[in-house]
Parts: sequence; structure tokens; C-alpha cells
Amino acid sequence: MTYLVDDKCIKCRYTDCVSVCPVDCFYIGENSIAINPDECIDCGVCEPECPAGAIRADTDFDPEDKEKWLDINTRMSELWPNITEKIDQLPDADKFNPKLNPEVGDKTNDLSEEPDKG
Ligand code: SF4
Ligand code: F3S
Repeated sequence: MTYLVDDKCIKCRYTDCVSVCPVDCFYIGENSIAINPDECIDCGVCEPECPAGAIRADTDFDPEDKEKWLDINTRMSELWPNITEKIDQLPDADKFNPKLNPEVGDKTNDLSEEPDKG
């Protein structure tokens, strides 16, 4: 089991999740974040911290979605640098937050595989 970040993080990237992780297993991309499934200890403390509701246990995904997001989190966490402290959210985070704007649809196609430029 692991926790996974899904498309709801994309273009928001609030990073509240990062500051609570006891094993520092978050990795940061240009417009999203990823959890390294091999490092996550399934503590669950990050899930309620995300203002966009972008983190869930893999057991809470449909089987097909689970495979998709397990693959994305695994691949991206190998490509992107580690992040251990909260940084500013992306400029239009609230606009693309599906919790604040339910009309925001699936953002998977907006995922950038580029690492955060820092
Ligand atoms: Fe880190 Fe725990 Fe979230 Fe896994 S479930 S990413 S260990 S805070
Ligand atoms: Fe993304 Fe939510 Fe963390 S928007 S960076 S998963 S707090």
C-alpha cells in the first residue's frame, strides 16, 4: 500500500502535504508533486492537509486509476527533486482547485513532467 497524488494537485501544488511527511518522500515537478511509493510509510497524515483533496490511499482508487497514478507517482518521483518544506502555491492554485471550483475537470493532460525549476 501507498498514498498517491492525483491530477487534482496539477496547477495548484499547495505543498502543505510536504511539511507533515515524516519520511520526506515528496518530489516536486514544475506544476505538481509526487510521492515515492517505495518510501511512503502509509501514515496518512498528508491526506487531510491537501486543500485540493489530491492525496488518497491507493486502496481508495478504482483499480485502473490506481495503476495509472501508481505509475505516474513512481516515474515522477524518480525524475523530480526531493522537497521537504512548504513553498508558495502556484499563482492560479485557487482557480484550479477542484474543491473551490467544481467545474475544474480532470487535469491529467496538464501534467508537466519537467522538474521544478526552483
Ligand atoms: Fe508521507 Fe505519510 Fe503521506 Fe506517505 S502517507 S506521503 S509517509 S505523509
Ligand atoms: Fe499537491 Fe495538495 Fe500537496 S495540491 S502539493 S498534493 S498539498
